[in-house]
Amino acid sequence: MIDNTAAFETAGYSSYPVTHRPLRIEPGEDSLRLAWEDGRESEFHYLWLRDNCPCPQCVSSLTREQLFEICDVALSIRPETARLSDGYLEIQWQGDGHSSRFHPGWLRAHCYSEQARAARHWQPEIWDKAAIEARLPSFDYSDMMQDDTVLLRWLRQLRDSGISLLRNTDTTPGTLKQVAERISFIRETNFGTLFDVRSKPDANTAAYTTLRLPLHTDLPTRELQPGLQFLHCLENDASGGESMLVDGFRIAEHMRQEYPDDFEALSTLPMDFYNKDRNSDYRFRGPALVLDGQGTVIEVRFANFLRGPLDIPADQVVRHYRAYSTFIRLTREARFQFEYRLVPGDLLVFDNRRVLHARRAFDLQQGQRHLQGCYVDRDELLSRIRVLERSL
Ligand code: OGA
Ligand code: ZN
Ligand code: ZN
Repeated sequence: MIDNTAAFETAGYSSYPVTHRPLRIEPGEDSLRLAWEDGRESEFHYLWLRDNCPCPQCVSSLTREQLFEICDVALSIRPETARLSDGYLEIQWQGDGHSSRFHPGWLRAHCYSEQARAARHWQPEIWDKAAIEARLPSFDYSDMMQDDTVLLRWLRQLRDSGISLLRNTDTTPGTLKQVAERISFIRETNFGTLFDVRSKPDANTAAYTTLRLPLHTDLPTRELQPGLQFLHCLENDASGGESMLVDGFRIAEHMRQEYPDDFEALSTLPMDFYNKDRNSDYRFRGPALVLDGQGTVIEVRFANFLRGPLDIPADQVVRHYRAYSTFIRLTREARFQFEYRLVPGDLLVFDNRRVLHARRAFDLQQGQRHLQGCYVDRDELLSRIRVLERSL
């Protein structure tokens, strides 16, 4: 059995266990076919292989960044010799005679057959009220802080379902910072590094009043909406103030099926989002539903109270309002809503670019309500997962 990496064999820091060995190769015109012992086949193009040569001439041993540029070889590049040796694919190239050696675990992990690409494609775990009530992802604060395996489980869960509850979190103000830094950098904004969500006499946003907040994402007014949102409950004995969460991907899929024209309107017509304050003026223009090249919904951008006047062609205005109203009506439907009353020590974390959140109005005559919040971008979450996966 071949060892997991030797980092320099793969130009990175991850390890690639060899779960299957290559059996034979079959060189073709501009690619070779590699047959694995489990019957799978991979096609690797010569250009792709040459581009991915991990040798120290092609990849810096210090930074592990590529030095080689593909334009320095002919597009018609092909091997002088190609063979399997002790499980490795070894190629000596025509022309300059450069040699490349590819680790089998790395090759298998980067196979780009349709089957392999589909298997690597990330799929969210989409939920509605029933699904999330049946299994709300919950973790214990101390376990997560002390144990990296729990941390990794928590973060993967957040990535996939977009929601989680950390329980028994220390209610000392500022604890949130340590939790967020367990992942990585906090995303600072005009609301601060940590923000205090409570009723304030000089409120600059609806969140800092006792008013109801309809379902929304935070900071749709920014080019990049914050990825993860943290809401840490320090006090909550006021009456009202219950939280509601809705999986925006679920609503979008429902719209696509049941109201295709509304879905198309919300995914193509731009909306204007404004965050006006005394010393700042953030604005962003973009559709409420963001699709990738394959038409998959990858982001939801939505806050009724942070909109500017609509600025689209006149013949699209009524169409937009119809679609926008459909979306809001759907988010209000009980079958999609997870309702939860935060108790002190609860720390709710969710994907703000996917999950909409809301709260009921509250009344401070009987008690207090104080949450602390912050943001951590999705990039930080995903990077942390990958680094933890290197060793766990
Ligand atoms: C917010 C927010 C929810 C709450 O601060 O953005 O939505 O429960 N707060 O107060
Ligand atoms: Zn090389
Ligand atoms: Zn909010």
